[in-house]
Amino acid sequence: MTRAAITAVGRYLPPDRLTNKDLESMVDTTDEWIRTRTGIQERRILRDRGKASAFMGTEAGRQALKKRDMDPADLDVIIVATVTPDMFFPSNACQVQAALGATRAWGFDLSAACSGFVFGLCTAASLIESGRYRSVLLIGSDKMSSITDYTDRNTCVLFGDAAAAVLLEPDDSGHGLLDHVLRCDGEGWEALCMLGGGSLRPPSHETLAKKMHFLHQDGRTVYRFAVSAFADVAEEVMMRNGLTSEDVRYFVPHQANRRIIDAAAQRMGLGADQVMVNIHRYGNTTNATIPLCLCDWESELQKGDNIVLAAFGGGYTWGAGYLKWAYDTPAVRPQGAKPALEQKAARLAVNTI
Ligand code: UT7
Repeated sequence: MTRAAITAVGRYLPPDRLTNKDLESMVDTTDEWIRTRTGIQERRILRDRGKASAFMGTEAGRQALKKRDMDPADLDVIIVATVTPDMFFPSNACQVQAALGATRAWGFDLSAACSGFVFGLCTAASLIESGRYRSVLLIGSDKMSSITDYTDRNTCVLFGDAAAAVLLEPDDSGHGLLDHVLRCDGEGWEALCMLGGGSLRPPSHETLAKKMHFLHQDGRTVYRFAVSAFADVAEEVMMRNGLTSEDVRYFVPHQANRRIIDAAAQRMGLGADQVMVNIHRYGNTTNATIPLCLCDWESELQKGDNIVLAAFGGGYTWGAGYLKWAYDTPAVRPQGAKPALEQKAARLAVNTI
């Protein structure tokens, strides 16, 4: 059966850092509280007001395509998972398409809060498995600083801005996304939401005065939900595929809270060397967390590695995927530019690399 394999990854990190020390001067908090309760030490902030999630997503996507030596004009589909699109419409996907020069591609934005990347991965995989599309660029991009209230210590310490992208292509050799479990439960919507700005409460003096254009979170409630839901789906995916903890090379969790990650890893019987954690550097970047991990660990990943990814977020939404990694980084990352014909051949040879 044809599967969808990740064949390249890319990322964009804004240069400006917001450290816990910086936050100490903004709200009533301490570096110690943030580190011990969340594991976060710093996060990136996109300070340029003229740039937002479409820009970051474009840069991440551009990097992924460049690593694969793929001409953007060869791209079939662009999916952007985001809760902070530049505008309600047109979609970020359209902006990315134009900025990249992906002249043949169509695309759309996907809204599933922090689970958007995992939902997007399964959607992208289905498009490829259908046989109709051969390349999908999936981007997770969020400018969380645009919806964060920097006077609210409950939320402002948690989030950061970033984008990361993966390129998906067909694979007939047993690699790629092999299974997934996706869930949502709208009963939990109030615990994590942004109340204002939508069609129910269009922007008004009242929505501004009530700070409805900022993200609202009942942290404790989300925490309780996340601790069990997150590990449930990851374990379900492992069980369904006969994976023991020893079989898993890496668990790639959504990076919302170090304690939630550790609790899930413990339940799954995983050691620290099997869990990707970079929350201390970037905070919670919502749709970018999982692909950012893949970027950070790309050089360590080997063809055939079993990877379990899992996310949870507002909605509630949650889900997990089982991925067999499709490439060894040095093998498909030769130094220097390749001649055009060789590039095309490398693209077509994805299944045999
Ligand atoms: O990706 C989206 C999904 N979201 C999540 O996964 C978030 C899940 N929730 C969490 O990660 C945690 O609940 C938080 C990190 C948000 C909060 O940690 P907590 O251990 O659950 O703390 P809490 O909300 O129960 O608050 C404990 C105390 C409170 O003070 P009182 O009422 O005990 O006096 C808070 O006001 O900590 C206080 N507090 C802070 N203190 C210093 C809350 N935020 C801060 C802060 N600095 N930044």
